[in-house]
Amino acid sequence: MEKKNIDWSSLGFGYIKTDKRFVSNYKDGAWDEGTLTDDASVVITECAGVLQYSQSCFEGLKAYTTEDGRIVCFRPDLNASRMKDSCERLEMPVFPEERFVQAVTDVVRANEAYVPPYGSGATLYIRPFMFGSSAVIGVKPAEEYQFRIFTTPVGPYFKGGAKPITIRVSDYDRAAPRGTGHIKAGLNYAMSLYNIVDAHNKGFDENMYLDPATRTKVEETGGANFLFVTKDNTVVTPKSGSILPSITRRSLMYVAKEYLGLKAEEREVFFDEVADFAECGLCGTAAVISPVGKIVDHGREIVMPSGMEEMGPITRKLYDTLTGIQMGRIEAPKGWIHEIC
Ligand SMILES: Cc1ncc(COP(=O)(O)O)c(C=O)c1O
Repeated sequence: MEKKNIDWSSLGFGYIKTDKRFVSNYKDGAWDEGTLTDDASVVITECAGVLQYSQSCFEGLKAYTTEDGRIVCFRPDLNASRMKDSCERLEMPVFPEERFVQAVTDVVRANEAYVPPYGSGATLYIRPFMFGSSAVIGVKPAEEYQFRIFTTPVGPYFKGGAKPITIRVSDYDRAAPRGTGHIKAGLNYAMSLYNIVDAHNKGFDENMYLDPATRTKVEETGGANFLFVTKDNTVVTPKSGSILPSITRRSLMYVAKEYLGLKAEEREVFFDEVADFAECGLCGTAAVISPVGKIVDHGREIVMPSGMEEMGPITRKLYDTLTGIQMGRIEAPKGWIHEIC
């Protein structure tokens, strides 16, 4: 398979149209068999459920080339089951989980020429998504839906090394208790845009959201879960019903315990404790872990002991171990690496 003539190392995180995408339509209570198509356009009625009442959800995962030249993706079954949870919460029909994994496999295989080579740091980002496609004018679920998966090559997340970032404590809330924070609904991201643009304008990389009910506990950022490391090397991650269950975070907690022999706790994390931690990182598919060097709470600066120059030592070990597992340099737990070709 001849690769496309792309300068992989200069790619950013943007949309580049690839050759094929998967499309399946839901009508009269059933999904059709689905197909791979060249057509990147979506044509729907002006009154579609997604356009009027934001009935949409999505997933995000990556395909990449391992050290020994296989194309794989990481735990796509967990994306399938999280999308099931999203659909159920939004009154959308579930695309069967085995079919989801098969469709991811088919669409990556059909775009093999766009999967970046091992060592480039670049990956093929995979975006499954679903939306209400039939007309609704009263507030209710649509009757018809479309499920699609497109892919787009994206560049290395850290160009020139993983520099710690600065985040601020947000004045806005992300997700209400018993709301939709635990699912990957498009609406969760629409409402975060004002706040992230404002954060960037003011020189911050990200927003730290606190729990809306008491504003005393750490939740997550707009696109990643938190990991903290205590001074005695326990890995701690916030437990909350209104944060997205990050697949990367769940994998890192396993790596901490089973590969690194560390204590790992999922529990409520009070903002007051944050200054006592040794390290802080943001975890998600895009970066795996992005180190946080500084947290600013309305003028009060909390500088993590790991500093603004490098990842902390435990964060580094977690990062190296998980990326080693993903890239085939370290043996993976059973079922984590899904082979495409
Ligand atoms: C709100 C939010 N939290 C966390 C994550 C990280 O999740 P994952 O590790 O599954 O990519 C994401 C990205 O998908 C996200 O959008």
